[in-house]
Amino acid sequence: TSEFSLRPRYLSEYIGQQQAKENLKIFIEAAKLRKEALDHVLLYGPPGLGKTTLSQIIANELGVNIRTTSGPAIERPGDLAAILTNLQEGDVLFIDEIHRLQRSVEEVLYPAMEDFCLDIIIGKGPSARSVRLDLPPFTLVGATTRAGLLSAPLRDRFGVVNRLEFYTVNELAFIVTRAADILQIGISEGGAVEIAKRSRGTPRVANRLLKRVRDFAQVRGDGIITNDIADEALLRLQVDACGLDHVDHKLLLAIIEKFAGGPVGLDTLAATIGEESQTIEDVYEPYLMQIGFIQRTPRGRTATISAYQHFGKEMSN
Ligand code: ADE
Repeated sequence: TSEFSLRPRYLSEYIGQQQAKENLKIFIEAAKLRKEALDHVLLYGPPGLGKTTLSQIIANELGVNIRTTSGPAIERPGDLAAILTNLQEGDVLFIDEIHRLQRSVEEVLYPAMEDFCLDIIIGKGPSARSVRLDLPPFTLVGATTRAGLLSAPLRDRFGVVNRLEFYTVNELAFIVTRAADILQIGISEGGAVEIAKRSRGTPRVANRLLKRVRDFAQVRGDGIITNDIADEALLRLQVDACGLDHVDHKLLLAIIEKFAGGPVGLDTLAATIGEESQTIEDVYEPYLMQIGFIQRTPRGRTATISAYQHFGKEMSN
């Protein structure tokens, strides 16, 4: 079964993100009542929390087509113009990693979002003239890991802005149980909770761990995922009791052992452990901050007492 079929298709099947879900439900219903395109939607938050899934759900709920692309894939203004002129009335255009759009492409997007039109320059030099082309009303759904990475004029053009939050253990246990059902994997409640606890608040991680734990259950057990099987499998996968992996450990131990607990600048830290600054900032830090293991200060990152305790280490001052 493909990853895609695990994704919920309607809001009613979507677990968690209560706030975003309730808001979207109302805005979608209102747009349908008025027979208008839904206002543009910005979804932001750490990777794996369901931005792509929600964009698909928005299109399904509206009963329209979705066209999916990403910031880096749209290289030139003409690429965006081609996409926009091929939309049908009310369609959803999903742009993932929208913070990575070229400035020249963004400038085409502004009038498209605001007035549903394209300003095209025809010709060169003194004979160049601008032609205005009408577009069908559409809904742009933009996704980004951090809203702060967007230019202000782009951010301001989204009427609906939703921040996606990390999921609770309870929500993740529901998601794991639902996925196990679809994949026809036997799992106990304890098994689901164990995977949920170690999925760093992230459904994408939970579903990945579910598949790996299933492999252990089939080879080492009777195919049913119990709490014990999950525990053993996750230990072998080097996912610790808090869901932290090898990279999290490297990062925390570098702050603690090489920089005396910090503060240490992001780029220094990145160079020390051989990861990209951007990856640390987007993928690793948000969860470590959420569980209170690191703090961001103006002078850099520090490890908290909880981080020391996690490794059975004493803070020296
Ligand atoms: N699978 C991945 N994310 C999910 C969610 N939020 N709800 C239900 N199933 C999911």
